[in-house]
Amino acid sequence: MLRLSSLLLLSLPITRVLSAECTVSHSGSEDDSPAILKAFSDCQVDSVITFQQANYSAFTPISLTGLKNVTVHLNGNLLLPNNISRVQHEINVTNNQPSTYATPWFYFQGEDVSIVGSDDMEWGAFHGFGEQWWNIGNRILRPQLATFNVTNGLLRKLKVVKPIAWGWNLPGKNLRVEDHFVDAAPHNGTRDNTVSFPFNTDGIFYPLESNITVDGYYGHNGDDCISVINGGKDIVAQNGYCGFCSHGLSIGSLGKGGAVQTVQNVLFKNWTMDGAVYGARFKSWTGGRGFADNVKWEDITLVGVSTGILVTQNYYDQDKGGRPENTNSSSTKVSNFEFKNFKGSLAANWTDGTCISDPCWNYVPGIDNTKAIIFDLYPETVGLLLALNLTVENIDIHPQNLDSDKTTVLCDPSTLVSGEQMTLGFECQDGPYRATDIKLPSGALGSVAERRNIFVVLSSIFIASLMLCI
Ligand SMILES: *[C@@H]1O[C@H](CO)[C@@H](O)[C@H](O)[C@H]1NC(C)=O
Ligand SMILES: *[C@@H]1O[C@H](CO)[C@@H](O)[C@H](O)[C@H]1NC(C)=O
Ligand SMILES: *[C@@H]1O[C@H](CO)[C@@H](O)[C@H](O)[C@H]1NC(C)=O
Ligand SMILES: *[C@@H]1O[C@H](CO)[C@@H](O)[C@H](O)[C@H]1NC(C)=O
Ligand SMILES: *[C@@H]1O[C@H](CO)[C@@H](O)[C@H](O)[C@H]1NC(C)=O
Ligand SMILES: *[C@@H]1O[C@H](CO)[C@@H](O)[C@H](O)[C@H]1NC(C)=O
Ligand SMILES: *[C@@H]1O[C@H](CO)[C@@H](O)[C@H](O)[C@H]1NC(C)=O
Ligand SMILES: *[C@@H]1O[C@H](CO)[C@@H](O)[C@H](O)[C@H]1NC(C)=O
Ligand SMILES: *[C@@H]1O[C@H](CO)[C@@H](O)[C@H](O)[C@H]1NC(C)=O
Ligand SMILES: *[C@@H]1O[C@H](CO)[C@@H](O)[C@H](O)[C@H]1NC(C)=O
Ligand SMILES: *[C@@H]1O[C@H](CO)[C@@H](O)[C@H](O)[C@H]1NC(C)=O
Repeated sequence: MLRLSSLLLLSLPITRVLSAECTVSHSGSEDDSPAILKAFSDCQVDSVITFQQANYSAFTPISLTGLKNVTVHLNGNLLLPNNISRVQHEINVTNNQPSTYATPWFYFQGEDVSIVGSDDMEWGAFHGFGEQWWNIGNRILRPQLATFNVTNGLLRKLKVVKPIAWGWNLPGKNLRVEDHFVDAAPHNGTRDNTVSFPFNTDGIFYPLESNITVDGYYGHNGDDCISVINGGKDIVAQNGYCGFCSHGLSIGSLGKGGAVQTVQNVLFKNWTMDGAVYGARFKSWTGGRGFADNVKWEDITLVGVSTGILVTQNYYDQDKGGRPENTNSSSTKVSNFEFKNFKGSLAANWTDGTCISDPCWNYVPGIDNTKAIIFDLYPETVGLLLALNLTVENIDIHPQNLDSDKTTVLCDPSTLVSGEQMTLGFECQDGPYRATDIKLPSGALGSVAERRNIFVVLSSIFIASLMLCI
């Protein structure tokens, strides 16, 4: 420790800039984007930036880069233009770095950045005025709300109110998101896209990087609540509520167009899924070639959800006709998936406003509203060992107004690798849900313990190398 602190002292004179405090001024009705840019450039390093308790007009997309050791107190709100054509124009001409699905309106990049909202529900919010977009089904030149491309970051008590589409994208690493709020439901809760539907309003999604924790989430939206996409690694998302037409706690989609995409080490724990299309969901495209390994969904309560658990290795674009022939003879490999402690009810309806093709994107043959589990595994998975160690344990899901003896599953036993049924935890069949004993292969416990030890060793190496860097 002594050595560490003396090293720290040595390095301070080189990097240290006088710490600064900036308060972002606001004009009333003019575009406050220039004032925001100025504050973030005056206070780019070792600083605290404070927004007053007021509505700021962020009428121009903003890119705030090169931040280092900055804490932002968002005591006010940030408002996009309440005008579709103005937003489209700005997105068309902005230089903001394109993000995963679209160009972000707010782009944050740097190291050691915290954005802290407010305890007050009225403040710490990003207002997208998205409902007018949903009302007319406008999906042209939509911004993604905000991208947080930060190493060592914190987002706390932020609200997303009527976003136009995608919410926060987290391509950074070592991030914590606490007490996040999303309101992406039409005011009267219609699910009908001919009236209004919040397409692509994913709550939070994270690609590319690693070590991200979401703790505390409350939201209503019309797409994935949490979406872990390619590159996601060491991710925990816990203690949340997803309502309206949420598409669930999702991994993927992975492997579109034969891509090699991966996700590793994800835990979803303690969620309530209310009115959602899915509780837990994994999807990979037909023909993909990456993998998803070690994913757990645990302590999930379902309230009127369409399908409790879905794993599909055969996703395809329903808009473009039937399921294409898988000429690549491959699929994204799934291994060590655990679904544990699910309880609650299924709903009468299993579609929502995103269902714009016939059959709907969520169609699998045999689907109805009594399915606790759908395992739609790649048919050739057996020879290629593409689905290994899937386990379902302690499931108590019942269809709406029916007892749990009416709960059913879809699972084709011919897609199970030999021995998989032993550890699956339910009878793989197209029929009633029947729990089965999980018979761990001998030595299984030993290998888990071994893996832990390896993890401890690896983390100590990592910590040691961090100290060397300093
Ligand atoms: C980070 O910035 C604050 C001022 O906001 C300063 O007090 C602190 O020393 C800085 N931390 C480091 C590691 O430089
Ligand atoms: C801030 O903007 C929001 C969204 O338009 C509005 O609902 C709220 O009343 C405004 N607050 C103030 C104090 O102007
Ligand atoms: C919306 O913005 C456009 C410019 O992009 C402008 O021409 C139009 O007047 C604005 N509409 C309203 C209602 O302010
Ligand atoms: C976007 O910009 C292109 C040219 O750069 C232009 O042709 C197009 O009309 C613009 N679209 C909108 C909606 O502003
Ligand atoms: C994140 O920032 C790094 C530079 O630090 C850049 O190379 C990368 O492209 C950025 N990623 C996204 C999604 O913006
Ligand atoms: C993971 O991120 C957290 C911050 O959210 C940080 O405290 C922790 O040290 C990181 N772990 C590793 C192994 O980098
Ligand atoms: C919501 O409002 C629209 C009209 O704006 C109406 O057509 C629709 O039936 C309403 N839906 C519900 C669930 O009240
Ligand atoms: C589960 O999450 C909810 C928030 O959705 C929280 O209130 C509750 O305390 C959490 N339960 C546990 C056991 O952490
Ligand atoms: C098969 O993989 C190739 C890339 O190797 C890709 O171009 C093609 O789209 C893939 N086919 C399917 C059905 O995914
Ligand atoms: C289910 O859908 C039908 C028609 O699509 C609708 O009439 C009914 O109200 C819906 N029920 C629920 C519980 O949403
Ligand atoms: C499946 O689990 C067994 C026992 O826990 C382990 O030995 C094996 O490596 C696992 N398979 C994969 C692909 O992780």
